[in-house]
Amino acid sequence: MATQLLLFFLGAITVSNAEVTKIWKLSSRELIDYRAYRDVTVLHFRIPEQTLTAHFNFTVSEKLTSTQLFTGCKPRKVSLYLKYGSLPVINPDGAKFPDNFSVSYRVPVYRAEFQSDEVPILLNVSSPFPGDWFAAAFLSYTDPNNDQILQQGLTPSCAAMMDSSMSVDITEDITVIIPGEDTVSHLDPGIESKTFKFYVPSGTWKVRINVTSEKCENVPCIFMSFSPRAVPEPGLNNGNCDSDDGCESEFIPAVENWYYVTVGPQEASSEVLDFNLKVSFLPYNSTDKWQLLNTTLSNLVNDRFDYDVAAVLDDFQNFWTLVPLVRQSFSAFFTFNFLSEQADFNKGFFSINVSMNELAVMQFEVNYVSDIGGTLTFEMKLEDDDNLKNVTGNLYNVTVVACLSYQARAVPFFSPDTCLNFTGDFSEARLQVNTSNDNSRIGSIHVPFPEPGYWFITLKPFCYTNDSYPMECTTDLGILNVSLIIESNMCTADNCGRFGDCYNYMSGGFIFSTCVCRHGYIGWGCTDDSRVTSLVELLVAALLLTLSNMFFIPAVVMAIRRKYYTEALVYACTMFFSTFYHACDAGEDIYSYCLMRLNVLQFCDFYSAILSLWVTLIAMSDVGTTLKSIAHMAGAVGIALGTEYNRTSLWVLVVPALVGIAIMTQSWIWRCKSLRSCYPSVKYWKFYFPPGVLLVTVGLVCYSFLQTKQNYKFVHSAWHIIMALAIIFLLPARKQDSTPVINTEDFIALPTVTCVPCTRSSWKENKFLKLIRFWER
Ligand SMILES: *[C@@H]1O[C@H](CO)[C@@H](O)[C@H](O)[C@H]1NC(C)=O
Ligand SMILES: *[C@@H]1O[C@H](CO)[C@@H](O)[C@H](O)[C@H]1NC(C)=O
Ligand SMILES: *[C@@H]1O[C@H](CO)[C@@H](O)[C@H](O)[C@H]1NC(C)=O
Ligand SMILES: *[C@@H]1O[C@H](CO)[C@@H](O)[C@H](O)[C@H]1NC(C)=O
Ligand SMILES: *[C@@H]1O[C@H](CO)[C@@H](O)[C@H](O)[C@H]1NC(C)=O
Ligand SMILES: *[C@@H]1O[C@H](CO)[C@@H](O)[C@H](O)[C@H]1NC(C)=O
Ligand SMILES: *[C@@H]1O[C@H](CO)[C@@H](O)[C@H](O)[C@H]1NC(C)=O
Ligand SMILES: *[C@@H]1O[C@H](CO)[C@@H](O)[C@H](O)[C@H]1NC(C)=O
Ligand SMILES: *[C@@H]1O[C@H](CO)[C@@H](O)[C@H](O)[C@H]1NC(C)=O
Ligand SMILES: *[C@@H]1O[C@H](CO)[C@@H](O)[C@H](O)[C@H]1NC(C)=O
Ligand SMILES: *[C@@H]1O[C@H](CO)[C@@H](O)[C@H](O)[C@H]1NC(C)=O
Ligand SMILES: *[C@@H]1O[C@H](CO)[C@@H](O)[C@H](O)[C@H]1NC(C)=O
Repeated sequence: MATQLLLFFLGAITVSNAEVTKIWKLSSRELIDYRAYRDVTVLHFRIPEQTLTAHFNFTVSEKLTSTQLFTGCKPRKVSLYLKYGSLPVINPDGAKFPDNFSVSYRVPVYRAEFQSDEVPILLNVSSPFPGDWFAAAFLSYTDPNNDQILQQGLTPSCAAMMDSSMSVDITEDITVIIPGEDTVSHLDPGIESKTFKFYVPSGTWKVRINVTSEKCENVPCIFMSFSPRAVPEPGLNNGNCDSDDGCESEFIPAVENWYYVTVGPQEASSEVLDFNLKVSFLPYNSTDKWQLLNTTLSNLVNDRFDYDVAAVLDDFQNFWTLVPLVRQSFSAFFTFNFLSEQADFNKGFFSINVSMNELAVMQFEVNYVSDIGGTLTFEMKLEDDDNLKNVTGNLYNVTVVACLSYQARAVPFFSPDTCLNFTGDFSEARLQVNTSNDNSRIGSIHVPFPEPGYWFITLKPFCYTNDSYPMECTTDLGILNVSLIIESNMCTADNCGRFGDCYNYMSGGFIFSTCVCRHGYIGWGCTDDSRVTSLVELLVAALLLTLSNMFFIPAVVMAIRRKYYTEALVYACTMFFSTFYHACDAGEDIYSYCLMRLNVLQFCDFYSAILSLWVTLIAMSDVGTTLKSIAHMAGAVGIALGTEYNRTSLWVLVVPALVGIAIMTQSWIWRCKSLRSCYPSVKYWKFYFPPGVLLVTVGLVCYSFLQTKQNYKFVHSAWHIIMALAIIFLLPARKQDSTPVINTEDFIALPTVTCVPCTRSSWKENKFLKLIRFWER
C-alpha cells in the first residue's frame, strides 16, 4: 500500500517537459564515392533512455581541396542509411546478397538521399531504441563503367564534408511500476495519456498487463499500448482493449529491458478517469507437461484450421527448455562461437535433443561494438540416426523449424511460414530443414552486422502427414538429434569466397569487416557475377591495348633512318613498357602477363611516354648538340621526378609540353631570322606539321576527356595509335647540324645498290624507293 501511494505521488508531481535539446555533434567527415562497402563513412550516435523523438540533422557541403584552373564545386548526390545497434547492411549498387542472408525482417533502416548543397536534412525518428545508432553515408552510387577517367588537374578536386548533429526530446514524465502490485492512477480531463515503465529481468517467460477501469460501464473507454525499450509511438494501440472493463495483453517479452506502457482515454472526457494497472510476470511452469500437450494436440488434430493460435502458443510456452551455451572467442576480430557445455570445443558444432514434448530454446549475447562488425551464422542439421530412420520409415517425414530472433523468443510455426513474435520490431529469421532428401536436412542463416544484445534460437519439429503439408505431430517422435552451429566470422562464413578478400576497416572509431571483390564480382560476399567482364571482352581489351603499341614500330624505324638514334631508343622503350604495362594490367589476372611489378611497369610506361613527347619536341627544335644534350638530361631528370611525384596529374604532361613548345618556337623564330626564310621548310609546314598537330590534338582530347572505364580499351588504344602516327608526321626530315649534309640522291641510291642482287622485279624496287622517300622526305 505504501508503494502504491508513493508511486501515485511520484506520478502526480512529475511535470511534462518535452523540449528538444541538442546532445550530439559530429565534426566534419569526408564522404567518398561508393564503390564497395569499405567506402562508407560511419557516423555514430547514442540515444538516451526515454527519448520520444530523435532529430538528426545532416548537412553536406563541398569544399575545394586544391586551387586549380577551375573553381567551384558542383553539389553531388549523397546517400545515408541510419539504423539502431549496428551498421546498416546495404547494397546501393543493387548487387545480390549471398544465399540465406537475413537482410529483411531486421530493425528498421532509415534512408535519406540528398545533395551536398549545404541544405540541412532533418530526419526524425520517433520512439527510437536507446543506445548506439549508426549511419553509413557516402556519395551516391553511380555505375563505375560510365565514370570518366579524368586526368587530375582538369577538374576541381572537391571534398564533400558532412556535418551531423542530433537533438532529442526526452520525457521525464514516466512512473515506475512494480510487477505484481496494483498501481492505482487516474487521467485528468484534457490529459492525453500517462506513461509508466517496468523492468523485465532475464528469465521472464511471459508478461501480462491488465488495465481496468470501473468507469467504463460496458463500453471500452480506455486505451493502452506498450513497447519495449522506448515510449510507444502515438497511435500504437496494441493493448487489446476491446473488453468492457479494460485492457489485457500477454506477450513474450524482450528480456533485460524496460517496457513502457501508455494509458489514455479512448475519447476525450470531462470526467476524471480512474484506472488500475497491474503487470504480472508468468514464470516457466514445467508441471504436467505431457498431459497439457496431449490435450492441446488432440484439439488441434480435431479441427486443424479452426483453433486459436494464441491459445496454443500460450500452452507451448510451458514446454520450453533453455539449453545453456558457452561462448568461445578466437583471436581474430568478430570470430567466436557458442557451444553447449558437453560439446567438443574443437569441432565448432554441438548437438541437442529435440522432442515434441520439450522444445529447445537457446539464448546468446552479441556484445556491443566488439561483436557487431562480422557475420553471425546459424546452421542446423537434422542428424540421420536410427530414431530418425525409424520415424521417417514408419511414421512421418518430419521437418524441424528454427527461429533465430533478436531480443525476444519467437515461436516456430508452419502456417503461415513464419516465426510468430509478440513484441514486434525486432530482427528475426526462419530456417526449416526436412527429411525429404539428404540436402534438405541442412540449412543455414547468415546475419551480417548483428545487432548487439540477446539473440534466441527456438526449435520445434513438425510432421508431414502427407507429402506436401506439415502439421503438429500426433504420435511421439522420440528424440530427434539436431546439430547446430552458432558462430560469427569476419566478413562472411566462407571468408568472401573465391573472388574476394576479407578486410577490416575502421571508420568513425568503429571496426567492421567487409569483402573486397576481384574480377568484376560484386556484392556482400562477392557472389554476384552479373557484372563480370566476359572472357572474350577481357581478351579483346588485352589484345587491343597491347597490340596498338605496334604502331610505334614505324616511328622507331623512321627515327633510325633519319638518324634520330636517341629518339628511336626512347620510342622503342615507350613501345616496350606500354605493351608490358597493359599486358599486366588489362587481362584481370586471366589474360595477364606481368614482367615486373605492376607499379614499376606503370612508372616506366608514364615516364617513357612523357619522355617521348619531350625528345620529339627537342628534335623538332633546331638547337645545337650541346643544348640538345642538356635538354635531354634535364628532361630525363625532371620527368622522372614529376612521374614519381604524381603520375596521374595532368601537369606532369603539360609542363614538359609547354617548355618543349617554348624552346621549339624560340629556336624556329631565331632560325627564321638568321636564315631570312621560313623554317622549317615550306613543305614541312604544308604537309607534315598540320596533320601532325591535328593528330596530337585529337589524341589529347581523347586522352583527357573521352576515356571512361567502359570505352578505355578503345579510346586508349586509339591514343597509342594516334601518338605513334603523330611522331611520324612531326619528326623533321633531317638532323640539321651534326653531320655534314648528305646528298639526297646518294642516300636514296644506297638501298638500290644493296637491293639489286636480292630483288628481281623493278616494280618492287620502285615501291621500296617510294617508301624510303616518304620516310626521308
Ligand atoms: C542543422 O545544422 C545546420 C548546420 O549544422 C544548422 O545551420 C541548422 O540550423 C540545423 N537545423 C536544425 C533544424 O537544427
Ligand atoms: C522533424 O522535427 C522537427 C522539429 O520538431 C520539425 O520541425 C520537422 O517538421 C520534423 N520533420 C518531419 C519530416 O517530421
Ligand atoms: C485484471 O484485473 C481485474 C481487476 O483487478 C481482475 O478482475 C481480472 O481478473 C484481471 N485479469 C487477469 C487476467 O488477471
Ligand atoms: C503450473 O501449471 C499447472 C498446470 O497448468 C498448474 O496447476 C500449476 O499451478 C502451475 N504452477 C505454477 C507455479 O504456476
Ligand atoms: C492423450 O489424450 C487422449 C484423449 O484426449 C487419451 O486417450 C490419451 O491416453 C492421452 N495420452 C497420454 C499419453 O496421456
Ligand atoms: C540426447 O538423448 C540421448 C538419448 O536419450 C542421450 O544419450 C544424449 O545424452 C542426449 N543428448 C543431449 C545433448 O542431451
Ligand atoms: C520405431 O517406431 C515404432 C513406432 O513408434 C516404435 O514402436 C519402435 O520402438 C521404434 N523403434 C526404434 C528402434 O526406435
Ligand atoms: C517420406 O518421404 C519419402 C520420400 O518423399 C517417401 O518415400 C516416404 O514414404 C515418406 N515416409 C512417410 C512415412 O510418409
Ligand atoms: C512478427 O510476426 C508477424 C507475423 O505474425 C510478422 O508479420 C512480423 O513481421 C513479425 N515481426 C518481426 C519484426 O519479425
Ligand atoms: C524440404 O526442404 C527443401 C529445402 O529446404 C524444400 O525445397 C522442400 O520443398 C521441402 N520439402 C517439403 C515437402 O516441404
Ligand atoms: C542456403 O540454405 C539452403 C537450404 O536452406 C542450403 O541448401 C544452402 O546450402 C544454403 N546456402 C549457403 C550459401 O549457405
Ligand atoms: C495434405 O493434408 C492436408 C491436411 O489434412 C490437406 O488439406 C491436403 O489436401 C493434403 N494434401 C494432399 C496432397 O493430400
